[in-house]
Amino acid sequence: MAEITNIINQLKESIRQDTFVRLTLSKNQDLGSTLKKVLIKLAVIKNQKQLSLVYRHKTNDITKNFPIEVACQEIENLMRDTFVIYNLFTITADWSAERIANGQLKLKEQKPSFTELPKRSHDKTKKRLITGTDYLQALNVLDSSGRVKKDKGDKYKQINKFVEIIDGLVRKNKDLLKKDVLQVVDMGAGKGYLTFALYDYLVKTAKVNAQVKGVEVRPDLIQLCNEVATKVGFKNLKFEVGYIGDYDLPKTDMLIALHACDTATDDAIFKGIQAKASLIICAPCCHKQIRKEIDDKTEFHAVLEHGILKERQAEIITDTIRALLMESKGYRTRVFEFISTEHTGKNLMIVGERHDREVDKVAIFEKIAGLKKAFGIGSHYLESLLV
Ligand SMILES: C[S@@+](CC[C@H](N)C(=O)[O-])C[C@H]1O[C@@H](n2cnc3c(N)ncnc32)[C@H](O)[C@@H]1O
Repeated sequence: MAEITNIINQLKESIRQDTFVRLTLSKNQDLGSTLKKVLIKLAVIKNQKQLSLVYRHKTNDITKNFPIEVACQEIENLMRDTFVIYNLFTITADWSAERIANGQLKLKEQKPSFTELPKRSHDKTKKRLITGTDYLQALNVLDSSGRVKKDKGDKYKQINKFVEIIDGLVRKNKDLLKKDVLQVVDMGAGKGYLTFALYDYLVKTAKVNAQVKGVEVRPDLIQLCNEVATKVGFKNLKFEVGYIGDYDLPKTDMLIALHACDTATDDAIFKGIQAKASLIICAPCCHKQIRKEIDDKTEFHAVLEHGILKERQAEIITDTIRALLMESKGYRTRVFEFISTEHTGKNLMIVGERHDREVDKVAIFEKIAGLKKAFGIGSHYLESLLV
């Protein structure tokens, strides 16, 4: 069919002249087929022009990228054997054709529907949210040539995921970006991996004038972190020895507590609520307090008979009540897994965003009371701090 060859030639010519917008093949002659259309666009993949074919099936799309010549052969086959309507869009003209019963084509040229070329780039270059390698090298996450150390892959993933979450939150709470000084406190900062990455993101990527403080009970870690902060020139990143429960929290916009042990998470949330922090972000770990409180003889005793299930149950109850208490104090809370369990089991995150809407405290306290009653819990540590 010479006309099909003509369209393929038009297609090739439009690619050569860089006027090609897209080609669609539709009306499958096999009415029972799940393949409904093929949409073709030009993509630049690893600096090579390719044609990207989206095979639109009834319930899903399958995309395949081919070098131009290979794609043209595939398109020609699809035109001959499968589809009867073809629409070629270029910025100089549109071409449409329908293959009719006797195999003939009616080719029509029309004014172009598009005057601008679409974006060609296909490579999804992920925007880097953290820029520095020096502190990650100093903290032994990267080696001297900037590669992730063998045993630090999970930590590196966790750092990046955490910063991605912060990026989303900061974009959503745009007022934080406009602050003259954004005050951030990371409680139970440990070796500071996440604190450094957070500072890097806020100051270098989000361009915020941030003052970040890491609070940690271990003086050796504080010394190490302050040395690294000085070495890499993070002048508004400071680490202080402190016990979260006793820490006199200054004005704070963002309160972070990642994997602070057991009730240290409650202490941190309490401090954040007291300071009216706009964001409270915590990843709880080891939920011992509620585990000890749970009464094994309630009507739910069957779900507590196996140690691991009791442990999980304690985690769920602890964090549910934490989220409810934060709600009662004017925080919209979300609880989610922030990184896949294959990288760390301690992957739950509670995020609270402060708002000034009215809260139905009675309903919230009823829910808490219901949970406590069901599991025979006398008190939840955060609740006792908040009374
Ligand atoms: C598991 S590490 C987590 C470190 C870091 N936040 C992270 O996620 O990579 C917990 C850290 O919290 C510190 N910590 C635990 N309880 C604390 C408390 N009450 N006050 C201050 N630091 C505490 C521990 O010393 C430890 O370094």
